[in-house]
Amino acid sequence: MKDKNILITGGAGFIGSNMVEKLIETNNITVIDNLNNHVGDKFIKKFNANKNFNFINDDILKTDLEKIKNIDIVIHFSANSDVRYGSDDPMKDFDNNVVVTQKILEYMRKMEVNEILFASSSTVYGEAKIMPTPENYGPYMPISSYGASKMANEGFITAYSHYYGIKGSIFRFANIVGKNSTHGVIYDFINKLNKNKNELEILGDGTQEKSYMHVIDCVNSMIFIHEKLDKTDIINLGNEETTSVKKIADYVVNGLGLKNVEYKFTGGINGRGWVGDVKKTFLDIQKLKNLGWKSKYTSDEAVKTAVEETIDQLN
Ligand SMILES: NC(=O)c1ccc[n+]([C@@H]2O[C@H](COP(=O)([O-])OP(=O)(O)OC[C@H]3O[C@@H](n4cnc5c(N)ncnc54)[C@H](O)[C@@H]3O)[C@@H](O)[C@H]2O)c1
Repeated sequence: MKDKNILITGGAGFIGSNMVEKLIETNNITVIDNLNNHVGDKFIKKFNANKNFNFINDDILKTDLEKIKNIDIVIHFSANSDVRYGSDDPMKDFDNNVVVTQKILEYMRKMEVNEILFASSSTVYGEAKIMPTPENYGPYMPISSYGASKMANEGFITAYSHYYGIKGSIFRFANIVGKNSTHGVIYDFINKLNKNKNELEILGDGTQEKSYMHVIDCVNSMIFIHEKLDKTDIINLGNEETTSVKKIADYVVNGLGLKNVEYKFTGGINGRGWVGDVKKTFLDIQKLKNLGWKSKYTSDEAVKTAVEETIDQLN
């Protein structure tokens, strides 16, 4: 991707800021973000001096997007990204994920923007009966409003691409970890242990097992795959292995140089971390590999690297 005018929604957040970093030297980047992410503009303020960077601090739900002109490609990350609180307030997922994405698609239609890269999620599958889960698994039965919102987004992107010739690269992410993380299990454990070095509360029973991908592999593979695809498609992004929550706790405890930390498992409902948590997620990545992608980090390596990066950033 070179010499393009790219709109990155949610570009001040975790994955978005890593994407800005990847693309800014060779493209013009506009970020729209309402800084609703606990960290404000911390990850992107270093780009303010760059002539290729333009930041719009606005809520996509409320703003008139048509003021943003001459965009070639949208990379759409903005969302309510924390899956955990869906059952407390499902409307948050509906507004920030379904309505916002719809607004982005309407913006693209009116402004004749023909390409979108979209951050979907493995949560669309719900509790899949086939593991590793391929893209053509069905029926989708998400168990969170977050997963349901991503499922709706995917459907509208494929419909808009059929109606208006938009090319949509839809990426179903596994769990993404690494620099600039603002939420998720690693971030959570480090914060808890910074408060109390003797004890770690672990949501669920610790056997939850998911595939983790490093954010550098995530943003690099998104660009790599988008350039390979000639039409709209859906691709799982993840690794070929999984890492358990208990193992992540061990990596964090070691990374912080702690000893004799007592693990307190909340047990959860059937060992889940929270209502709506999918206990095991393992994506089939054959399609990703067939397109020529090879990740730098395995799931365990991604977690270990992310533990070091997050400790550095938080401490
Ligand atoms: N992190 C993961 O493991 C993971 C896994 C699957 C999918 N995803 C998806 O990837 C995308 C990026 O995730 P992330 O982890 O970087 O999340 P994040 O919360 O760090 O970033 C999202 C950004 O969007 C912004 N935002 C939210 N609502 C907005 C609105 N209405 N208007 C303007 N800005 C708004 C937030 O301020 C934030 O900076 C999200 O769509 C998320 O659902 C992430």
